[in-house]
Amino acid sequence: MTLTHPLNRKEFGSSENLGKMMSLEEALELLQNWVKNDKLAFHMKQVGQLMKAYAVSRGYDETTQHMWHIAGLLHDADWDQWPDEHCRKIIEELEERNQDPRIIKAIASHGPRYFGVDPDSEMDKMLYAFDELSGFVHAYSLMRPQGYEGMEIKGVKKRLKDKSFAAQVSREDIADASEKAGVPVEELIQFVIENQLRA
Ligand SMILES: [Fe+2]
Ligand SMILES: [Fe+2]
Repeated sequence: MTLTHPLNRKEFGSSENLGKMMSLEEALELLQNWVKNDKLAFHMKQVGQLMKAYAVSRGYDETTQHMWHIAGLLHDADWDQWPDEHCRKIIEELEERNQDPRIIKAIASHGPRYFGVDPDSEMDKMLYAFDELSGFVHAYSLMRPQGYEGMEIKGVKKRLKDKSFAAQVSREDIADASEKAGVPVEELIQFVIENQLRA
């Protein structure tokens, strides 16, 4: 298979910058400056919130929670203005800003089939897992009269089987991400239903 957005790299960021992370305000400013499409900005905030919530659920410290949050928030920052350079542009920006290499690596591996970089760490894998599933559950909430109220795992799974629903969402990526993360799809769906940022 040919990669649509090959990064052709294995190293991301510098180990000298471990622990260096921008503030939430700076990340939101970057997001606002780069992303003019409201839907995309909302998707990024949803994934950011899920990442943070997952780090909290795992009992990680605040610095780690923040790191997961920033990775989720910024993962698609360049998609709006530079789709052909997704996600090279944001990687270079974060490298220039001396950001923690773990954030940059997580972003680089959020679409292994597109960028050719495999997720390794738990943060990498969860970003990959939440990315497609978050958008899918969001799409499902929009078609339900009660939105997220009373949403069940089985309803989401039924839609996943219906290939015409939210057809742009890759079922293959969702299954692959769940396997890589070692978290069953049902558990991921439940987590998204409970923690997703709502419109
Ligand atoms: Fe992306
Ligand atoms: Fe995304």
